[in-house]
Amino acid sequence: MQTNYGTQQTDIACTTIMPTQIIPDMVDDVRASLLQPPRSLSPKYFYDERGSELFEQICSTPEYYPTRTEHHLLSKHAVAIIKQTNPDQILELGSGYSTKTRRLFDACQETAQHCIYAPLDVCEEALIDAAQKLAEEYKWLKLKPLLGDYHGGLGNLPVTQGAHLFVFLGSTIGNFGQTTHARDFIKEVYNAMGSRDHLLIGVDRVKKDHILEAAYNDAQGVTAAFNLNVLHVLNRALNANFNADEFTHSAIFNADKERIEMRLTADSEQKIHIDDLGASIHFDKGDDILTEVSQKYTYSGIEKMLTAAGFSITNHYEDENAYFSLVLASK
Ligand SMILES: C[S@@+](CC[C@H](N)C(=O)[O-])C[C@H]1O[C@@H](n2cnc3c(N)ncnc32)[C@H](O)[C@@H]1O
Repeated sequence: MQTNYGTQQTDIACTTIMPTQIIPDMVDDVRASLLQPPRSLSPKYFYDERGSELFEQICSTPEYYPTRTEHHLLSKHAVAIIKQTNPDQILELGSGYSTKTRRLFDACQETAQHCIYAPLDVCEEALIDAAQKLAEEYKWLKLKPLLGDYHGGLGNLPVTQGAHLFVFLGSTIGNFGQTTHARDFIKEVYNAMGSRDHLLIGVDRVKKDHILEAAYNDAQGVTAAFNLNVLHVLNRALNANFNADEFTHSAIFNADKERIEMRLTADSEQKIHIDDLGASIHFDKGDDILTEVSQKYTYSGIEKMLTAAGFSITNHYEDENAYFSLVLASK
Protein backbone atom coordinates (compact mmCIF):
# COMPACT_ATOMS: atom_id res chain seq x y z
CA MET A 1 0.00 0.00 0.00
CA GLN A 2 1.33 3.44 -0.92
CA THR A 3 0.50 6.44 1.25
CA ASN A 4 0.78 9.77 -0.53
CA TYR A 5 1.07 12.80 1.67
CA GLY A 6 -0.81 15.38 -0.36
CA THR A 7 -0.54 18.07 2.28
CA GLN A 8 3.28 17.93 2.27
CA GLN A 9 5.32 19.95 -0.23
CA THR A 10 6.80 16.77 -1.65
CA ASP A 11 6.14 13.85 -3.94
CA ILE A 12 7.71 11.47 -1.43
CA ALA A 13 5.42 8.55 -0.66
CA CYS A 14 5.55 6.12 2.24
CA THR A 15 4.97 2.44 1.63
CA THR A 16 3.05 0.66 4.39
CA ILE A 17 4.66 -2.63 5.34
CA MET A 18 2.03 -5.20 6.19
CA PRO A 19 2.84 -7.52 9.11
CA THR A 20 3.71 -11.14 8.37
CA GLN A 21 2.77 -12.25 11.87
CA ILE A 22 -0.11 -11.30 14.12
CA ILE A 23 0.62 -8.43 16.47
CA PRO A 24 -1.91 -7.02 18.92
CA ASP A 25 -3.48 -3.68 18.06
CA MET A 26 -3.14 -0.85 20.56
CA VAL A 27 -6.43 -1.67 22.31
CA ASP A 28 -5.45 -5.30 22.99
CA ASP A 29 -1.87 -4.44 23.76
CA VAL A 30 -2.75 -1.76 26.32
CA ARG A 31 -5.51 -3.92 27.80
CA ALA A 32 -3.02 -6.75 28.38
CA SER A 33 -0.22 -4.62 29.78
CA LEU A 34 -1.84 -1.71 31.65
CA LEU A 35 -4.98 -2.90 33.39
CA GLN A 36 -3.30 -5.14 35.98
CA PRO A 37 -0.08 -4.61 37.94
CA PRO A 38 2.78 -4.88 37.14
CA ARG A 39 1.68 -2.21 34.67
CA SER A 40 3.75 -1.57 31.56
CA LEU A 41 3.54 -0.10 28.07
CA SER A 42 5.33 -0.91 24.83
CA PRO A 43 7.95 1.79 24.08
CA LYS A 44 6.67 2.02 20.50
CA TYR A 45 3.80 4.18 21.82
CA PHE A 46 6.25 6.94 22.73
CA TYR A 47 6.73 7.79 19.10
CA ASP A 48 3.94 10.02 17.91
CA GLU A 49 5.19 13.19 16.18
CA ARG A 50 5.85 14.97 19.49
CA GLY A 51 7.52 11.88 20.98
CA SER A 52 9.86 11.56 18.00
CA GLU A 53 10.74 15.27 18.23
CA LEU A 54 11.40 14.93 21.97
CA PHE A 55 13.63 11.90 21.34
CA GLU A 56 15.68 14.02 18.89
CA GLN A 57 16.02 16.65 21.62
CA ILE A 58 17.12 14.01 24.15
CA CYS A 59 19.89 13.08 21.69
CA SER A 60 21.35 16.60 22.00
CA THR A 61 21.27 16.85 25.80
CA PRO A 62 24.74 16.92 27.38
CA GLU A 63 23.94 13.87 29.52
CA TYR A 64 22.85 11.61 26.63
CA TYR A 65 26.25 10.18 25.67
CA PRO A 66 24.85 7.29 23.47
CA THR A 67 23.98 9.48 20.46
CA ARG A 68 27.22 11.50 20.62
CA THR A 69 29.31 8.38 20.96
CA GLU A 70 27.58 6.40 18.24
CA HIS A 71 27.74 9.43 15.95
CA HIS A 72 31.48 9.70 16.58
CA LEU A 73 31.96 5.99 15.80
CA LEU A 74 29.94 6.33 12.59
CA SER A 75 31.88 9.41 11.48
CA LYS A 76 35.15 7.58 12.08
CA HIS A 77 34.31 4.25 10.47
CA ALA A 78 31.60 4.93 7.87
CA VAL A 79 33.93 4.85 4.87
CA ALA A 80 35.41 1.51 5.94
CA ILE A 81 31.90 0.15 6.56
CA ILE A 82 30.67 1.19 3.12
CA LYS A 83 33.80 -0.15 1.39
CA GLN A 84 33.40 -3.43 3.22
CA THR A 85 29.68 -3.86 2.52
CA ASN A 86 29.16 -2.15 -0.91
CA PRO A 87 25.42 -1.74 -0.25
CA ASP A 88 22.94 -1.43 -3.11
CA GLN A 89 20.31 -0.78 -0.44
CA ILE A 90 20.58 0.53 3.13
CA LEU A 91 17.60 -0.72 5.14
CA GLU A 92 17.25 0.96 8.53
CA LEU A 93 15.04 -0.36 11.33
CA GLY A 94 13.57 2.31 13.66
CA SER A 95 15.19 5.10 11.65
CA GLY A 96 13.52 8.12 13.35
CA TYR A 97 14.92 11.26 11.68
CA SER A 98 17.89 9.31 10.19
CA THR A 99 20.25 11.87 11.71
CA LYS A 100 23.31 9.65 12.30
CA THR A 101 22.66 7.61 9.16
CA ARG A 102 23.83 10.66 7.20
CA ARG A 103 27.40 9.65 8.02
CA LEU A 104 26.81 6.48 5.96
CA PHE A 105 25.41 8.56 3.09
CA ASP A 106 28.46 10.84 3.26
CA ALA A 107 30.63 7.74 3.00
CA CYS A 108 28.57 6.44 0.06
CA GLN A 109 29.07 9.79 -1.64
CA GLU A 110 32.81 9.71 -0.99
CA THR A 111 33.16 6.19 -2.36
CA ALA A 112 30.66 6.70 -5.23
CA GLN A 113 28.48 3.90 -3.81
CA HIS A 114 25.08 5.22 -4.83
CA CYS A 115 22.28 3.24 -3.21
CA ILE A 116 18.65 3.04 -2.17
CA TYR A 117 17.73 4.05 1.39
CA ALA A 118 14.72 2.29 2.92
CA PRO A 119 14.03 3.57 6.45
CA LEU A 120 11.36 1.72 8.46
CA ASP A 121 9.60 3.37 11.38
CA VAL A 122 6.24 3.53 13.18
CA CYS A 123 6.27 7.35 13.08
CA GLU A 124 5.18 8.58 9.66
CA GLU A 125 5.83 12.25 10.47
CA ALA A 126 9.48 11.48 11.26
CA LEU A 127 9.82 9.34 8.12
CA ILE A 128 8.42 12.05 5.84
CA ASP A 129 10.33 14.87 7.49
CA ALA A 130 13.59 12.90 7.22
CA ALA A 131 12.93 11.86 3.62
CA GLN A 132 12.20 15.44 2.54
CA LYS A 133 15.45 16.68 4.04
CA LEU A 134 17.51 13.76 2.74
CA ALA A 135 16.14 14.31 -0.78
CA GLU A 136 17.53 17.85 -0.63
CA GLU A 137 20.86 16.92 0.95
CA TYR A 138 21.69 13.80 -1.09
CA LYS A 139 20.23 14.24 -4.56
CA TRP A 140 21.55 10.85 -5.72
CA LEU A 141 19.92 8.91 -2.86
CA LYS A 142 16.86 6.86 -3.88
CA LEU A 143 14.42 7.08 -0.97
CA LYS A 144 11.83 4.43 -0.06
CA PRO A 145 10.37 5.29 3.38
CA LEU A 146 8.57 2.34 4.95
CA LEU A 147 5.81 2.77 7.51
CA GLY A 148 5.49 -0.26 9.73
CA ASP A 149 6.10 -2.11 12.97
CA TYR A 150 9.16 -4.35 13.03
CA HIS A 151 7.43 -6.53 15.63
CA GLY A 152 5.09 -7.55 12.80
CA GLY A 153 7.92 -9.47 11.11
CA LEU A 154 10.44 -8.53 8.46
CA GLY A 155 9.23 -10.84 5.68
CA ASN A 156 7.55 -8.03 3.72
CA LEU A 157 10.53 -5.68 3.63
CA PRO A 158 11.33 -4.74 0.04
CA VAL A 159 14.30 -6.78 -1.06
CA THR A 160 16.16 -5.51 -4.08
CA GLN A 161 18.88 -7.20 -6.07
CA GLY A 162 22.41 -6.90 -4.73
CA ALA A 163 23.83 -6.30 -1.29
CA HIS A 164 21.85 -4.89 1.63
CA LEU A 165 23.18 -3.13 4.69
CA PHE A 166 20.67 -3.53 7.53
CA VAL A 167 21.13 -0.74 10.07
CA PHE A 168 19.79 -0.74 13.63
CA LEU A 169 21.12 2.24 15.57
CA GLY A 170 20.49 4.07 18.83
CA SER A 171 20.71 0.91 20.96
CA THR A 172 17.03 0.40 20.13
CA ILE A 173 17.69 -3.34 20.60
CA GLY A 174 17.93 -2.48 24.31
CA ASN A 175 14.22 -1.58 24.34
CA PHE A 176 13.02 -5.12 23.60
CA GLY A 177 12.04 -5.77 27.21
CA GLN A 178 13.74 -9.06 27.79
CA THR A 179 17.07 -10.17 26.40
CA THR A 180 15.38 -13.29 24.97
CA HIS A 181 13.11 -11.00 22.88
CA ALA A 182 16.17 -9.12 21.66
CA ARG A 183 17.86 -12.39 20.70
CA ASP A 184 14.75 -13.58 18.87
CA PHE A 185 14.59 -10.31 16.94
CA ILE A 186 18.26 -10.50 15.94
CA LYS A 187 17.55 -14.00 14.62
CA GLU A 188 14.61 -12.57 12.62
CA VAL A 189 16.92 -9.95 11.11
CA TYR A 190 19.40 -12.71 10.28
CA ASN A 191 16.67 -14.74 8.58
CA ALA A 192 15.55 -11.72 6.53
CA MET A 193 19.06 -11.20 5.16
CA GLY A 194 20.71 -12.62 2.04
CA SER A 195 24.18 -14.11 1.87
CA ARG A 196 25.82 -10.84 0.71
CA ASP A 197 24.11 -8.70 3.36
CA HIS A 198 25.49 -7.13 6.52
CA LEU A 199 24.01 -5.81 9.76
CA LEU A 200 25.32 -2.63 11.39
CA ILE A 201 24.05 -2.35 14.95
CA GLY A 202 24.67 0.21 17.71
CA VAL A 203 24.50 -1.11 21.27
CA ASP A 204 24.91 0.70 24.59
CA ARG A 205 27.32 -0.82 27.09
CA VAL A 206 27.15 -1.53 30.81
CA LYS A 207 28.89 1.26 32.71
CA LYS A 208 28.81 3.14 36.03
CA ASP A 209 25.24 3.66 37.16
CA HIS A 210 25.60 7.42 37.74
CA ILE A 211 26.54 7.93 34.06
CA LEU A 212 23.64 5.76 32.91
CA GLU A 213 21.10 7.36 35.21
CA ALA A 214 22.18 10.91 34.29
CA ALA A 215 21.58 10.08 30.61
CA TYR A 216 17.92 9.24 31.34
CA ASN A 217 17.34 12.04 33.86
CA ASP A 218 18.66 15.08 31.98
CA ALA A 219 18.68 18.38 33.85
CA GLN A 220 16.48 20.13 31.26
CA GLY A 221 13.73 17.53 31.81
CA VAL A 222 13.48 16.50 28.15
CA THR A 223 13.46 12.77 28.98
CA ALA A 224 10.76 13.40 31.59
CA ALA A 225 8.65 15.20 28.95
CA PHE A 226 9.27 12.32 26.50
CA ASN A 227 8.15 9.77 29.11
CA LEU A 228 5.05 11.76 30.14
CA ASN A 229 4.10 12.30 26.49
CA VAL A 230 3.00 8.66 26.28
CA LEU A 231 0.03 9.58 28.51
CA HIS A 232 -1.07 12.16 25.92
CA VAL A 233 -0.73 9.45 23.25
CA LEU A 234 -3.07 7.19 25.28
CA ASN A 235 -5.52 10.05 25.87
CA ARG A 236 -5.71 10.82 22.16
CA ALA A 237 -5.63 7.28 20.74
CA LEU A 238 -7.83 5.52 23.30
CA ASN A 239 -9.97 8.33 24.73
CA ALA A 240 -8.36 8.15 28.14
CA ASN A 241 -8.19 10.92 30.75
CA PHE A 242 -4.65 10.74 32.18
CA ASN A 243 -3.44 13.98 33.73
CA ALA A 244 0.29 14.07 32.96
CA ASP A 245 0.79 16.63 35.76
CA GLU A 246 -0.19 13.92 38.26
CA PHE A 247 2.65 11.54 37.27
CA THR A 248 6.41 11.72 37.81
CA HIS A 249 9.19 10.38 35.58
CA SER A 250 11.97 8.19 36.97
CA ALA A 251 14.81 6.20 35.40
CA ILE A 252 16.86 3.89 37.61
CA PHE A 253 19.62 1.43 36.75
CA ASN A 254 18.70 -2.11 37.80
CA ALA A 255 22.18 -3.52 38.38
CA ASP A 256 20.99 -7.15 38.58
CA LYS A 257 19.32 -6.98 35.19
CA GLU A 258 21.86 -4.49 33.76
CA ARG A 259 19.13 -2.24 32.45
CA ILE A 260 17.66 1.21 32.91
CA GLU A 261 14.01 1.02 33.93
CA MET A 262 11.96 4.07 33.11
CA ARG A 263 8.70 4.55 34.95
CA LEU A 264 5.81 6.94 35.47
CA THR A 265 4.65 7.06 39.09
CA ALA A 266 1.28 8.38 40.28
CA ASP A 267 1.69 11.43 42.54
CA SER A 268 -1.76 10.90 44.06
CA GLU A 269 -4.60 8.39 44.25
CA GLN A 270 -6.54 8.58 40.98
CA LYS A 271 -9.01 6.74 38.79
CA ILE A 272 -8.32 6.83 35.06
CA HIS A 273 -10.96 5.99 32.47
CA ILE A 274 -9.94 4.54 29.12
CA ASP A 275 -13.13 4.75 27.07
CA ASP A 276 -11.95 2.66 24.11
CA LEU A 277 -11.11 -0.19 26.48
CA GLY A 278 -14.34 0.29 28.43
CA ALA A 279 -12.15 0.11 31.53
CA SER A 280 -10.89 2.13 34.47
CA ILE A 281 -7.56 1.91 36.27
CA HIS A 282 -7.15 2.72 39.94
CA PHE A 283 -3.77 4.17 40.92
CA ASP A 284 -2.78 4.57 44.55
CA LYS A 285 -0.15 7.23 45.21
CA GLY A 286 3.20 5.61 44.31
CA ASP A 287 1.78 3.06 41.84
CA ASP A 288 3.75 3.03 38.64
CA ILE A 289 3.88 2.06 34.97
CA LEU A 290 7.06 0.59 33.48
CA THR A 291 7.26 2.56 30.23
CA GLU A 292 10.67 1.49 28.90
CA VAL A 293 13.61 -0.73 29.67
CA SER A 294 16.95 0.02 28.13
CA GLN A 295 19.12 -3.07 28.37
CA LYS A 296 22.87 -2.49 28.56
CA TYR A 297 25.31 -5.04 27.18
CA THR A 298 28.91 -6.09 27.75
CA TYR A 299 31.33 -6.44 24.83
CA SER A 300 31.05 -10.22 24.98
CA GLY A 301 27.28 -10.10 25.57
CA ILE A 302 26.83 -8.27 22.26
CA GLU A 303 28.99 -10.76 20.40
CA LYS A 304 27.15 -13.68 22.00
CA MET A 305 23.76 -12.25 20.96
CA LEU A 306 24.92 -11.85 17.36
CA THR A 307 26.79 -15.15 16.99
CA ALA A 308 23.92 -17.07 18.64
CA ALA A 309 21.74 -15.86 15.74
CA GLY A 310 24.32 -17.11 13.22
CA PHE A 311 26.17 -13.85 12.50
CA SER A 312 29.94 -13.52 12.08
CA ILE A 313 31.40 -10.36 13.60
CA THR A 314 33.20 -8.40 10.89
CA ASN A 315 34.21 -5.40 13.02
CA HIS A 316 33.44 -4.41 16.58
CA TYR A 317 34.11 -0.67 16.99
CA GLU A 318 34.05 0.98 20.41
CA ASP A 319 35.00 4.41 21.76
CA GLU A 320 37.95 4.99 24.11
CA ASN A 321 35.71 4.82 27.19
CA ALA A 322 33.98 1.64 25.96
CA TYR A 323 30.64 3.43 26.42
CA PHE A 324 29.10 2.23 23.16
CA SER A 325 29.60 -0.47 20.52
CA LEU A 326 29.03 -0.23 16.79
CA VAL A 327 29.17 -3.71 15.35
CA LEU A 328 29.29 -4.79 11.71
CA ALA A 329 28.25 -8.40 11.25
CA SER A 330 27.82 -10.61 8.21
CA LYS A 331 25.66 -13.59 7.48
C1 LIG B 1 15.51 4.95 20.32
S1 LIG B 1 14.80 5.64 18.89
C2 LIG B 1 16.19 5.57 17.77
C3 LIG B 1 16.05 6.49 16.59
C4 LIG B 1 17.27 6.51 15.66
N1 LIG B 1 17.49 5.20 15.06
C5 LIG B 1 18.50 6.92 16.43
O1 LIG B 1 19.41 6.11 16.55
O2 LIG B 1 18.56 8.08 16.86
C6 LIG B 1 13.79 4.31 18.34
C7 LIG B 1 13.15 4.50 16.97
O3 LIG B 1 12.49 3.28 16.62
C8 LIG B 1 11.16 3.54 16.22
N2 LIG B 1 10.36 2.38 16.66
C9 LIG B 1 10.06 2.04 17.94
N3 LIG B 1 9.35 0.89 17.96
C10 LIG B 1 9.23 0.52 16.66
C11 LIG B 1 8.60 -0.60 16.02
N4 LIG B 1 7.98 -1.52 16.75
N5 LIG B 1 8.66 -0.69 14.67
C12 LIG B 1 9.30 0.28 13.94
N6 LIG B 1 9.91 1.35 14.49
C13 LIG B 1 9.87 1.46 15.82
C14 LIG B 1 10.77 4.83 16.90
O4 LIG B 1 9.74 5.52 16.24
C15 LIG B 1 12.10 5.59 16.90
O5 LIG B 1 12.26 6.32 15.71
